[in-house]
Amino acid sequence: MARAKSVFVCRECGGESPRWQGQCPHCQAWNTLAEFRTGEGKGSAQRSSLTSPSLVQPLHQVKAESLQRLSSGLPEFDRVLGGGFVPGGVVLLGGDPGIGKSTLLLQSLAQVGKQHGVLYVTGEESPEQVAERARRLQLSGAAVDLLAETRLQAVEAVIRERQPQLVVIDSIQTLYSDALEAAPGSVSQVRDCAAQLTRLAKSGGPVMILVGHVTKEGTLAGPRILEHMVDTVLYFEGDGSSSYRLIRAIKNRFGAVNELGVFGMTETGLREVSNPSALFMSRHAQPVSGSCATVTLEGTRPLAVEIQALLDESRMGIPRRLTVGLEQNRLALLLAVLHRHAGVSCGDQDVFVNAVAGVRIGEPAADLAILLAIVSSLRNRPLPPGWVVFGEVGLAGEVRPVQRGLERLREAAKLGFAVALIPRANAPRQIPDGIRLITVERVEEAVQAFRDGS
Ligand code: TYD
Ligand code: MG
Repeated sequence: MARAKSVFVCRECGGESPRWQGQCPHCQAWNTLAEFRTGEGKGSAQRSSLTSPSLVQPLHQVKAESLQRLSSGLPEFDRVLGGGFVPGGVVLLGGDPGIGKSTLLLQSLAQVGKQHGVLYVTGEESPEQVAERARRLQLSGAAVDLLAETRLQAVEAVIRERQPQLVVIDSIQTLYSDALEAAPGSVSQVRDCAAQLTRLAKSGGPVMILVGHVTKEGTLAGPRILEHMVDTVLYFEGDGSSSYRLIRAIKNRFGAVNELGVFGMTETGLREVSNPSALFMSRHAQPVSGSCATVTLEGTRPLAVEIQALLDESRMGIPRRLTVGLEQNRLALLLAVLHRHAGVSCGDQDVFVNAVAGVRIGEPAADLAILLAIVSSLRNRPLPPGWVVFGEVGLAGEVRPVQRGLERLREAAKLGFAVALIPRANAPRQIPDGIRLITVERVEEAVQAFRDGS
């Protein structure tokens, strides 16, 4: 028996340290390091890895089979997965408690269960509570096998015996292995249970979905410590104040990352939103100042989003710069560019910028729209109706092209925008029907175009 050796693993980021420290050297979180005995559980790990001897074969002789994917039954979910579940794939679904993870998975299981064996392992709720949720979702008749169990070995035995094609573990933090002494939810338990289940999935087992709660306090080991073990990492997020829920792929061995699936939470469960652009644009009866539409890319999907800016005379020594859904530093940079290159000064103004409906924009393609929303609010003059704007802004005042400009234009045309103000380098040879282009190379040209247009 190998001597037990300890490493210290951060509950937040999964980073390892050779000794205990108050602060995690990887993610700088405080009091998150927990002891993890590498010797423990070795026995069971080795036993299950002793299957058939490995064969070495030249790469060119290995046939790349096109993966037979298993549809989740929910097109928006499939989109984030890259087209459905992959056999033997392990998916981690993380998210805040109460966001709707169990609801989503139960809805998906009910669909998959129509044709395949599915197993829902519930460690958090009693079978009655799950049945109650199913009733609320009008899925009482669904062919879903339910197992209320938190012992890993028992769960494995059931999976081996019944051979389901899809298994949901809700949640990985309630599961514990007999082979370890640590408490359920601790770093070693969560890691070991996930490792065992992954091995089971990879050796011809089912598709495995592990639910992981994100906890702020770090009382449970967070899903991040599992991210490197699994094939696909999805986060389910939403704004507490709205009923919209977004699934985002953070990592995907079988598809694109940053892919986005959009749902609305209703009385009877999650409904797919197939045209999310409509959702991220607020409808104004009259044109209002400080509002500018843009098209952002979320994964492979172009999304029309409304950017709003509000400028107000500052009553403090240092004017405020606040953003919601956008990067704060980017705003400071854009204000400087606006001042230096277009002669528009906001030095005595508080500046607030918001992306509507809780969407987060991480790409610079929204720069030009943010700038025009600011100018529009400052002048108290709305943009002309039907305008959509995108483009990256550089420090020299240049407007740089963005990726996949044509797709953004098509989305804008589809939504009925009449005029697109875009970087000159993004002008396509064939302009989508119904949309007129104004192309610019400099920030001052864009501001001028706005002045002339309105
Ligand atoms: P749940 O799936 O239990 O969240 P998680 O598993 O991520 O903790 O969802 C809980 C929330 O969803 C709860 O606040 C109630 C709401 N909800 C609805 O609005 N409609 C529904 O049909 C269901 C089942 C839940
Ligand atoms: Mg739940």
